[in-house]
Amino acid sequence: YADLRKRAQSRSKSRARTKSRNSSAGFKLDVSDFEFGEILGEGSYSTVVHAIYPPTEQEYAIKILDKGHLKRVNKTQTAIAEKNTLVRLGSGHPGIVRLHWAFHDEWSLYFVLDLAKNGELQSRISRLGSLSLSCARYYAAQLVDAVAYMHSRGVIHRDLKPENLLLDDHMRLKITDFGTGKLLEEGSERTGTFVGTAQYVSPELLTANNTSKASDIWAVGCIIFQMIAGKFPFHALSEYLMWQKVKSLDYTFPDGFDEVAKDLVIEPTQRLGAGEPGTPYDIEALRCHPFFKDVNWETLWSDPAPPME
Ligand code: ADE
Repeated sequence: YADLRKRAQSRSKSRARTKSRNSSAGFKLDVSDFEFGEILGEGSYSTVVHAIYPPTEQEYAIKILDKGHLKRVNKTQTAIAEKNTLVRLGSGHPGIVRLHWAFHDEWSLYFVLDLAKNGELQSRISRLGSLSLSCARYYAAQLVDAVAYMHSRGVIHRDLKPENLLLDDHMRLKITDFGTGKLLEEGSERTGTFVGTAQYVSPELLTANNTSKASDIWAVGCIIFQMIAGKFPFHALSEYLMWQKVKSLDYTFPDGFDEVAKDLVIEPTQRLGAGEPGTPYDIEALRCHPFFKDVNWETLWSDPAPPME
């Protein structure tokens, strides 16, 4: 990271000025165009750093991925997939971290992302123990709305958890970290084209797209449980034991768990929200669940957030 600062400083500032004068000429940004600040987060192959773009004074979170490291751990394709996923999602939804620019140099890939100033939802849940019902409902609704958009664009996240749900300066939710994202073929869920022979096609193959959307929705249920109960629905001393519990749906609601929310979470057979649009278990049905009765979906992203408690 110290290296990065030197790199950024050693390039001439005048170059940046020349570029801004030719701003319509399709130039590429590079590290010298940003002022870097504190480290916001560190992952296995990446570091997220606070940055300012001086021409507009706009703040960003820049995700830096080390090319050498990516190559060594065979994750170059994963990084490219992450970028493609973010590009597919575009600027279409306030609940999803937006990719503003991407560039690379000899050493690194750089993703210039929305800055979410208030950190991870996880740390709020940890600090507070659990969230008030109105708070849990608000973040559950924002999560459902953002996931609905993501799925409508053919993107499966596959690693939804409160660590990947950030809070912006208005305390609204933003989904991040599409490093595990999967792009469904454009239109595949509708056209249902497949290769193979119809008589022999397996149910998993027929429902493959469903299944992956359903697993995001499964995670949404676990997150809602966690926000309300302040603990994981499935917990054991080892992952193996935990998966046994998941498979046998071995979980219980703590005393006082909101009755209306109960059938919203971990409903495995007919998982609300996992169905294709137009079916009885689609995402619209999830929005219509009594738990969300008082949610105004139209103003969800402009209404002020409830107090975090
Ligand atoms: N940590 C990881 N990604 C971030 C982002 N986009 N904004 C703030 N902190 C982050």
